[in-house]
Amino acid sequence: MNIWRVVRSGKAHLEGSDFVLAARSISAAMGRGDVSALVVTRDETGLMQFVSSDYASLAQQVASVVGAECEECDFVDVPADMPVSGRMVARRGGVGQSSSQVGVSVDVAVGALASQMPVGSMIVVRFRKPTGGEARHVKRWVAARLGSAVPQHHSTSAGAVVASVDVGAQDRHDAAQLVELVRSVMPGFDVDVRARVDSPVAPIVAGVAGGVVLACAAWLWSWWLLVPLFVWGVVCAWMAWRARVNVGWSTAKLVREVSAAPPKRCVPPSRPRRDEGKESAGGYPLARGSFMVGQHTIVPLVAPQAEGLSGASRSRSRPVPAACQDASIGPLIGVGSRGESAHVDAQGLWQGFFAVGEAGSGKTFALLAQFAFAVLDKLTRQKARRGGVSVGRHFTGVHHPIIVFESKGDGVAAYRNWCDTLGRQVGVSGVVDVIDVGDASSLALDMVGSGSAVDRARRFTDAMKHGFADDAIRERSEETLRAVMCAAFVLQDMQEDGWRGADRVGASTAGVADLGRLSFMQWAHILLGGRGDDAGQLVAGFVRDAAAREGAWPDLVDAGSGLAPLYDSVTPSARRNLCEAPRNKVDALLGAGSWWDPGRRRVTFDMVLYHERTVVINCGASGMPTTVVSALSAMALFLLRACVERRCVGWKDQDRYVSVMCDELKLLQGSSPQVIEWLRNQGRAFGVRLFFATQYPEQLEAGVRQAALGFGTLVVLRQENPQIAGALAELLSLRGQSWYAEDVANLPRFTAVVKTSVRGETLPPFTVRLSDFESDRGAFASRQGWAL
Ligand SMILES: Nc1ncnc2c1ncn2[C@@H]1O[C@H](COP(=O)(O)OP(=O)(O)OP(=O)(O)O)[C@@H](O)[C@H]1O
Ligand SMILES: [Mg+2]
Repeated sequence: MNIWRVVRSGKAHLEGSDFVLAARSISAAMGRGDVSALVVTRDETGLMQFVSSDYASLAQQVASVVGAECEECDFVDVPADMPVSGRMVARRGGVGQSSSQVGVSVDVAVGALASQMPVGSMIVVRFRKPTGGEARHVKRWVAARLGSAVPQHHSTSAGAVVASVDVGAQDRHDAAQLVELVRSVMPGFDVDVRARVDSPVAPIVAGVAGGVVLACAAWLWSWWLLVPLFVWGVVCAWMAWRARVNVGWSTAKLVREVSAAPPKRCVPPSRPRRDEGKESAGGYPLARGSFMVGQHTIVPLVAPQAEGLSGASRSRSRPVPAACQDASIGPLIGVGSRGESAHVDAQGLWQGFFAVGEAGSGKTFALLAQFAFAVLDKLTRQKARRGGVSVGRHFTGVHHPIIVFESKGDGVAAYRNWCDTLGRQVGVSGVVDVIDVGDASSLALDMVGSGSAVDRARRFTDAMKHGFADDAIRERSEETLRAVMCAAFVLQDMQEDGWRGADRVGASTAGVADLGRLSFMQWAHILLGGRGDDAGQLVAGFVRDAAAREGAWPDLVDAGSGLAPLYDSVTPSARRNLCEAPRNKVDALLGAGSWWDPGRRRVTFDMVLYHERTVVINCGASGMPTTVVSALSAMALFLLRACVERRCVGWKDQDRYVSVMCDELKLLQGSSPQVIEWLRNQGRAFGVRLFFATQYPEQLEAGVRQAALGFGTLVVLRQENPQIAGALAELLSLRGQSWYAEDVANLPRFTAVVKTSVRGETLPPFTVRLSDFESDRGAFASRQGWAL
């Protein structure tokens, strides 16, 4: 016997006579003697409805009649622990009020059930096909009741089934009420019924009373009656024990009961009679606990539309697919609802890992776990390669630069702590390089690179163009920026060289040397009029004079000629117009302070990739505006992409990878989605693996959003906003499973719906409680399966 959960889907459900007709075919799949059951339970979070059967087609048919879908689950998913059990039985005579069976509204019938069913209760409706005798007896009984030889009644219609109704509840009163409730919500059900609630005491009392009576008889009459008295006592004890274990519900009992057929009569019922002017329909035609009903009478019980009326909804938990429980595929991310472990496929991570969830939902922790896993994998491989221990587990290999973009100071500490802990455990030191904008003593990133001043200026201006919001740097500003940057690089070079030869004289004569030790960004600032037009003219004049001198080197000549459109016969006000927009950007970048200091130790992305380093780049510093943080981050990603394209050709085929991580994706997106789209779409061949997080997808520019939501592994954490939750639920439902906005909105903290694929095959999304690896970093390696 299997069990399926009935879940709401977007489909409209049938109504009225269509519903009655569709319901008739439900038991078509069942053979004679087969039993199926409908199970409805209610806990604090709302209704849950199930179909149990040997046939998947029956469950699907039931679900489709009520406009729903069904998903296979397990009996342990049914909350079935209740202290009291009972059932519906027909009263003597068995005739109740007749009511119409057509024009049935599923919503109205089951709305009542949803709103009145007590918390912690359950209804189990078992059904089977009737025997020939049962069908005949019921027809005769109904015909006599309705006074028609050809009665129009659901119990005599094609496909009618024999059903029994069992209930479970927290107390006897609730159990009796529940029977009455079921009777009232079954459309067209007209048998007069009552509740029979199991009692653990009644059989004992009956047994003891019988024993006493027999004992008295034996005492009065003959001693040999003691023998049957003893037998009677044993029977009573056995009955009492059975009654006690049968009272209430448990999962084991549910499994047993759903496959037990509704009872049959032992003797035929009495026939209808008509004597002395008094008419009688005859005895109730079935066993007291069985009812002949049209299928449309019982099916509304599992209409999940009623969930909405129950006033409570909850996030469904879906089991982790077997493929993701396999520890050999990659990192452990958490545990499923039944305690099963959930892993993601390390080989499939080139398709990207994207976590989305409201503030504090656990995105950063989820990403940190991925980082720690990648670092551990890399370090253990490095150690093994150097002739140390054999590690057994390996995924992405030893050639694996990992680049993390961070925007908060404490974030850097977390990455560093992981590297320290894992480095110590594996026995490798100097694991991570921290590049921190706000820390003058740390490494800095070389955002300029080498080559001629014109090349450097072009590259840097392109990066700036990407770093600032869409269209912020237009064509004219771009030209000005390029020219100014070219001159600024030359000035920085000359200053670093100590203003050699004739330039030294020129620089001190013009007063340029007195301006102090400046970075190219500060020179650009001056040339764009940041210290007034006079200072700009003075510096530009110096460059142009030097460029005009015989023997001037090519970069200087380029710088001089580049400044001509800005400083040659241009009025100060015209120059101000030209310089204003680019100067705003340069001013903003100057906010990064010592980041531009020419004396700072720098690394290029080429070096990071070549030496396969793990680096954390923190583009944020306290008090720095977000525009600057995001401009620097996006510029860095732009430069990284160019470097990957240059340096990492064919890496995937050589089993080499570059992991790029950022838990605030919006900071990286820059002015256009192209960089992230490229990394997502073309990056694969270059071994690029992306790990991103964001609070909600609407923070992202459309193209970036699309790229990120299409990542191979999507970790959806809680979202309060209905539209956002709805859009994410729709995305999760793409492969046929149904997810609703409330599933996403009601996710418990640190619990995620995970959509992922294993060995290229996309799996149905499942729910996972993300593990907290931060609280015990030392145990990470063993939890991830390494024996260090
Ligand atoms: N899996 C987890 N198990 C237990 N606690 C967790 C888990 N993940 C996160 N936390 C707790 O929740 C806090 C917030 O988590 P985290 O920083 O990952 O959230 P976030 O989604 O990144 O938030 P923000 O959007 O503000 O960056 C953590 O400081 C930690 O205390
Ligand atoms: Mg975070």
